[in-house]
Amino acid sequence: MPTISNAKPARRQHVESQDRPEPAGEGVRLQKVLAAAGVASRRAAEEMISDGRVEVDGTIVREMGRRIDPDVAVVRVDGVRVVVAKDTVYLAMNKPRGWQSTMSDDLGRPCVGDIVRDRVAAGQRLFHVGRLDADTEGLLLFTNDGELAHRLMHPSYEVRKTYLATVTGVVPKSLGRTLKDGIELDDGTAKADEFTVLEISEGRSLVRVVLHEGRKHIVRRLLAAAGFPVEQLVRTHIGVVAVGSQRPGSLRALSRDEVGALYKAVGL
Ligand code: URA
Repeated sequence: MPTISNAKPARRQHVESQDRPEPAGEGVRLQKVLAAAGVASRRAAEEMISDGRVEVDGTIVREMGRRIDPDVAVVRVDGVRVVVAKDTVYLAMNKPRGWQSTMSDDLGRPCVGDIVRDRVAAGQRLFHVGRLDADTEGLLLFTNDGELAHRLMHPSYEVRKTYLATVTGVVPKSLGRTLKDGIELDDGTAKADEFTVLEISEGRSLVRVVLHEGRKHIVRRLLAAAGFPVEQLVRTHIGVVAVGSQRPGSLRALSRDEVGALYKAVGL
């Protein structure tokens, strides 16, 4: 399976004749690739193919004997990209507050590299998608798919990131308009795509901010420039991927749907 699972492989696996390795250099049958990617059983995958729901490199494939190279081919089912490459890895971490967003830290401070160390030691070439400030908690993605990582970080693809911020002060109703119109910062204008006040209590406000850029300290700088310094910041979403109730410091494999939605969001 190319997807990540914590399940241990069975010691001895029953190998049916159709599970024998494909002849080298000839590719792998499409229905087998789809089944291995967890899309459907091989039989159901055959039906999907004959129903014209499966696309390889931009072309619908209906013939059953089609072989592909899963490490190279772009496969879509019902228009949604399916991860079929054998060694691709997509992980979500809830970065704990106080941890550096780096793979190692010269000063010996705790860093996200500590959390993925076993995977890297096992040979996975993982890197994190963007960064969070040490003081910020929340969703950080890891992958070894360089193009996806690049596009998720690039503002031109407009992938939205959602943050919950506790700020000092009682924010006025008009703040949403101000942030959406944009505020001039040292390195250019910053804008929120969405802004919602969730709670006001004891001189503090809890707000939700959505934006699609990733400049350093952008949410803290934006809100401070508006007169509301951030006391606590959590990133809850990148596109459709949510940190949800994931424990700080834990990792989980993204689901097939989440990976498909990320690919779609960046036009891959
Ligand atoms: N904006 C910030 O200010 N900090 C982060 O960690 C992410 C976005």
